[in-house]
Amino acid sequence: MVESMERGAALPDQHFLRAMFGRFASGVTVVTCGAGDAVHGMTANSFTSVSLEPALGLVSLSRNCRMHDRLVAARRFGVSVLAEGHRHVSNHFAGRPVDGYLPAFEERCGVGLLSDALAWMILETEAEHRAGTHTLFVGRLVSCGYRADAHPLIFFGGGYGALSAPASA
Ligand SMILES: Cc1cc2nc3c(=O)[nH]c(=O)nc-3n(C[C@H](O)[C@H](O)[C@H](O)COP(=O)(O)O)c2cc1C
Repeated sequence: MVESMERGAALPDQHFLRAMFGRFASGVTVVTCGAGDAVHGMTANSFTSVSLEPALGLVSLSRNCRMHDRLVAARRFGVSVLAEGHRHVSNHFAGRPVDGYLPAFEERCGVGLLSDALAWMILETEAEHRAGTHTLFVGRLVSCGYRADAHPLIFFGGGYGALSAPASA
């Protein structure tokens, strides 16, 4: 089935847009700020690597979420990339707390990161761009690391999945 919108027609509604944007498969991250008992985490699939030199990444956050103003104030944030078995983690930090799940954080550069992340970054906010209902937070990499022995959690079409075949060039 093909759903399309012709140029010049009325703008598609949010249902269509959600379905169309959702064709773009992404990984899933948990954005964090704060440390110790004050870590706040939020699921985000808008993470994008931006530049290698300087090393920059961005996340796009709704101005309605609690994380937004915390990140404006903190100016330093963590990005933990979720692995295949982490859909409960994604749900937990997307406002659907999972009974019995207690996230384990480890602190780096003053920010809590998920201790079993596939990759992790600490970014310092370099620019904030308002864009519609969201703000793009562009961050400069301060510290990072990754595990090469695990696969990513995938978000596609509003649901979770996994790589069906090993990634190759
Ligand atoms: C897979 C997934 C990806 C999400 N990505 C984003 C995102 O990139 N930006 C955003 O603002 N919200 C995103 N959300 C929604 C937030 O995670 C959700 O609104 C969360 O409850 C906000 O938390 P807070 O208000 O406690 O900060 C996503 C949710 C899910 C399930």
